[in-house]
Amino acid sequence: MSDRIDPALPKVELHLHLEGAAPPAFIRSLARARHVDIGRIFDDQGRYRFDGFADFLRVYAAACLPLQRPEDYRQLTRAVLEHRAADGVVYVEAFLSPDFCGGGDLTAWRDYVAAIAEAARAASAETGITLRGIVSAIRHLGPEAAKRAALCAAETAGDFVTGFGIAGDETAGSARDFAWGFDCAREAGLGLTAHAGEWAGPAAIRASLDVWRVSRIGHGVRAIQEPALVDDLAERGTVLELCPGSNIALGLFPSFAAHPAARLRDAGVRITLSTDDPPFFRTSLRAEYEALARAFGWTEADFHAINADAARAAFCDEATRTGILKRLEATA
Ligand code: ADE
Ligand code: ZN
Repeated sequence: MSDRIDPALPKVELHLHLEGAAPPAFIRSLARARHVDIGRIFDDQGRYRFDGFADFLRVYAAACLPLQRPEDYRQLTRAVLEHRAADGVVYVEAFLSPDFCGGGDLTAWRDYVAAIAEAARAASAETGITLRGIVSAIRHLGPEAAKRAALCAAETAGDFVTGFGIAGDETAGSARDFAWGFDCAREAGLGLTAHAGEWAGPAAIRASLDVWRVSRIGHGVRAIQEPALVDDLAERGTVLELCPGSNIALGLFPSFAAHPAARLRDAGVRITLSTDDPPFFRTSLRAEYEALARAFGWTEADFHAINADAARAAFCDEATRTGILKRLEATA
């Protein structure tokens, strides 16, 4: 087929939840080994099973239950990075949550981060993939938990932890309720991103920009409902971390052809492409590229341009950025 995209095309992925990328077999065997009851979260083929966003959050939380020690996260990181490297990813940023890693306790959190960073170093030596961590508050756990997450982020900010963000149910609370965490993270020099405009409308995207002053938005697809906001995003150079397969699996859009990725890009908005929680949504970046190529006629040159812009928007130091861009150029 003429629209086939080389599966080995080097890719930059800016929006991935570490636990959300956990292979189901990994979680199943850890739950068994630990005698942790995670309820009925798999279908009869062993894949994650959920029905809609609220149920997805429930299944996600249940899948996290067996992950109880830094060593579990070391193994999880290793498994996830193996999959991401096999998908052609050369640089990935993953959301890490202090709520799942030590319950917001700073001392425990440091141990989890050390384990994850060590696994990342080992994976880098094996496959050349680079991982950076974006500490993520979980919005529906409330402002106090988000403050603790931001403090954890600020205390571990450095070579590995380079960003702060917020995920979960974006309809919980107001942007002001969570402003302290973003101010704290900004002062610590972290890059800022927020899930917005996935389940809530254009106002949530505006609040993320105005109150939290983020440079990137997770999803942001509902901007398409307001042409003036699309123009604003284009003008400001705000980067959208699009995850089309996630949006389709969760019922936001019926198909890739109906997804606003091409309309946003054509309007001049900076878009990037990620998988969000790949085994939950039964996707990979390769599959996303293939589907987008079929839906919009995008070619390898389009994906190369999107990846190069993702590298420019990455929350990493300049030497790392130059290295990623070189790897992308090597196959352009
Ligand atoms: N956490 C994991 N995936 C998410 C998504 N798509 N939206 C909000 N929070 C999430
Ligand atoms: Zn997400």
